This record gives sequence, structure tokens and C-alpha cells, in this order.
Amino acid sequence: MNVLVIGNGGREHAILLALKKSKRVEKLYCMKGNAGTAQIAENVDVDYMNTEAVKKFAAEHPEIDYYVVAPDDPLAIGLVDELEAMGKRCFGPRKNAAEIEASKAFAKSLMQKYNIPTAEAQTFDSYDKALEYVRKKGAPIVLKADGLALGKGVLVCEDLKQAEEGLKEIMLDKSFGKAGNVIVIEECMRGLKYTPGEEVSVLAFTDGKTIVPMITSCDHKRANDKDKGLNTGGMGTFSPCPFWTEELEKEVYESIMLPTMNAMNAEGRTFKGCLYFGLMRTDKGMKVVEYNSRFGDPETQVVLPMLKTDLMDIFEAVTDEKLADLKIEWEDGACVCVVLASGGYPLGYAKGKEITVGDIGDCQIVHAGTAVKDGKLVTNGGRVLGVVAKGKDIETARKKAYKAVDNIHFDNKHYRTDIGVKYRQG
Ligand code: AMP
Ligand code: GLY
Repeated sequence: MNVLVIGNGGREHAILLALKKSKRVEKLYCMKGNAGTAQIAENVDVDYMNTEAVKKFAAEHPEIDYYVVAPDDPLAIGLVDELEAMGKRCFGPRKNAAEIEASKAFAKSLMQKYNIPTAEAQTFDSYDKALEYVRKKGAPIVLKADGLALGKGVLVCEDLKQAEEGLKEIMLDKSFGKAGNVIVIEECMRGLKYTPGEEVSVLAFTDGKTIVPMITSCDHKRANDKDKGLNTGGMGTFSPCPFWTEELEKEVYESIMLPTMNAMNAEGRTFKGCLYFGLMRTDKGMKVVEYNSRFGDPETQVVLPMLKTDLMDIFEAVTDEKLADLKIEWEDGACVCVVLASGGYPLGYAKGKEITVGDIGDCQIVHAGTAVKDGKLVTNGGRVLGVVAKGKDIETARKKAYKAVDNIHFDNKHYRTDIGVKYRQG
């Protein structure tokens, strides 16, 4: 099979690396890709947010058998629907199912309607009414812009002043554009042991009939050590989640995963693809923080390396709604991904800095913002690359990853030194 993966980042490189191991995959393509994807796939220079351009490319390339739409934006505009209408086989939800991520108001109403445990919330399209509600509820309180905002449209406000400013920023100043036309205001959940709480990402394959959780992972969203600094797209991940147990898996499967799949079916929005559950362990059990309609980034970088089953078999089983027939197996042990970012990220940063790579042992470099310029590997984004290491446990994998990090250089390299340390005591 010839397979094309849509997207430019670390997640897409990680998906391609997993597909490269498939016995059934002959040639890989990536639209548009980066310097890492170019090493194992043919990068295709087409803007994947331009539906007509993608369709033209697909029509001209009948040799491509399968499309994986990985990022949220093309899913939200219905790229899967368009490709399927041309008779192409795809991995990823259709537009009406991708709304589970693209609209936080929709996701919230779904959870409320089907009694899926989540923070108590109300949705507003009026600034005045929203302000009244915030003042009534008081702080701490969480504000979420309804639409896609590069993972930055969520404000956890510790006091009322912050909440009032945040509300103005989202709804009046439109800091996140039209994503802020509607706002979800919710109760601030606290963790069972830690504040602000233990979070875990559970990605699941689903074909609308069966839902199969992958191994768990944990993300580090803040830019600096000890969860200080601004929110980012993710500075590192590790797998598995240390507080995860079989009992939690059962609870989450029964109270969250299965009900979500069934709810989407009942709404006529059958979800096929990878459904991402961002969860928090609270004193009232596991609750949904967010849904994503796709593989997480950088969760994918630590989950897929542990997959023993052929990823292409899983993708096709999802497309053909035969997931129930497949046994999905995982390696034992742990995996850690340390992201190396350009200094300044998530705000302004320089590009075009040369990257040199020394001895990285058996670690894998997963490229995110990289390019080749004048034959040299250079930085080309905020998150530049992820260093992925496996080990018998998180501590072993962590040590390996950081050893490799010391041998990768570019100007103003920034990374967290505490990836995998989270919840260590828990
Ligand atoms: P999201 O983009 O929805 O994942 O939100 C980003 C981060 O904000 C989450 O990873 C949580 O740490 C935090 N957060 C979101 N919603 C809540 C909530 N209701 N209570 C506490 N923290 C939250
Ligand atoms: N790592 C969080 C996300 O993919 O949205």
C-alpha cells in the first residue's frame, strides 16, 4: 500500500515511523512534512487546508491507497468527508464527528446530555451574561474559548480579577479570533492528590462499534520546569501514566469511553479514528477535561513506539469497522519524549539555526519544526524535535533521553529538565 499522512509535526513523523514498520506499506508520503518525514516519506508540497488543492493532488495520484488526516484543522473543515466523497480510504473522523474537539460547547453539551463525568459548566455567547455568571460563581474558574485555538484557548483563573480579564480577552478583544465568539465557563477541578490535579491522556482507536484504549501517557504543557511559564503545545511526554491501574481503566472505559462512542452514534456523528480523552483524577472519580478528535502531540511520540501490532492493520480495521476482530498488543516498559524547542517559544523565536546531532544511542529523533537549508538540518519552528527513549521503566528511559539531549545542539535550545518526573511520588 501507498499511504499519505497529512500534517507537519512530530505527531506525523511518529505516525510515519510506525507505518514504516508495517509489512504492508510500500511507499509513504507526507503533506507537507518536515526534514524528518522526508527521510522516510516523500514530502508533498500542497497546503492541506486548501481542500481543492488536496482533491486535485488526490485525483492526480491514484497510486495512493490510503490517507491519514492527523491534525485538528483539516479534520474540522471536513477533509476526510471530501476525500471519502472521491472514493479514497481515510483514517480520521468526518467533520460532524471532529466537532467533538472543534467545539468545546458541543463537547460539553454532549457530556451533559449523556451523563459523561466532566466539570460542571455553562456556555455563553453574550459577554454580559458570561460576566454575570463568572461573578456569581467566583474563582477559581476555567474559561474556554469554544473553537480551535492551538491548545491555548483555555484559561485557568485563580482569582476573579484574572477571570474578568480573561473573559474580556477571549470575548471582546478576540485574542483567539472567532474561537472566542462562544465561551464555556466551567468549575475548576482539583486532583485527588495534587493541585491542580493529576491528568492523563488516553488515546483510543474506534470504528464506531468498538473502542480500544491505547497505553496511557502524560503531557507537560507548560514551557518551564515545575509547570511554570506559558502553556505550549506540549514540552514532553511519558508513558505509561504512573497512577494508572486496571480499576481506573475499567472505570474510564465504562463511564467515559463507551458512553462517548455511543453518544456520538446516537447523535448521528459516528466517530471513526483516534479519539483522545484528556482526563483528570478527582475526588469524585475520573472526569473528562477535553476531547481531541486525533492523536495527541507529543503523546503519539511515546505511545506508538510501544505498539507491537501493525498500525496499518489497525487503520484499515477502523475504516472497515472490523476493529473487534483485531488484537492490539503493546510492549512492556516505558517511553519518554523530551521536546527541544527554540528559545522564546511559545512566543517569538528565531528559525534557521543549524542543528547538529552527536551520539544519541538507540534514541529516536522525532522531527517537528525542522527543515533542510543548503544541505544542513536547521530549526524551522517553535517545537523543533522530540528525543524519544524507551526503557524498562520511566527513570531508565528518562536518563537515556537526557543523555541524547546533551548531544543535540542548536542556538538557544530550550527544554524542560523534568519530563517524566511528574506524579513520581504518586
Ligand atoms: P484543555 O486545552 O481543555 O486540555 O485545557 C488545558 C489545560 O487546562 C488542561 O490540561 C488542564 O490542566 C487545565 N484545565 C482545563 N479544564 C480544567 C478544569 N475544568 N479544571 C481544572 N483544570 C482544567
Ligand atoms: N498534547 C495535547 C494535544 O495534543 O492536544
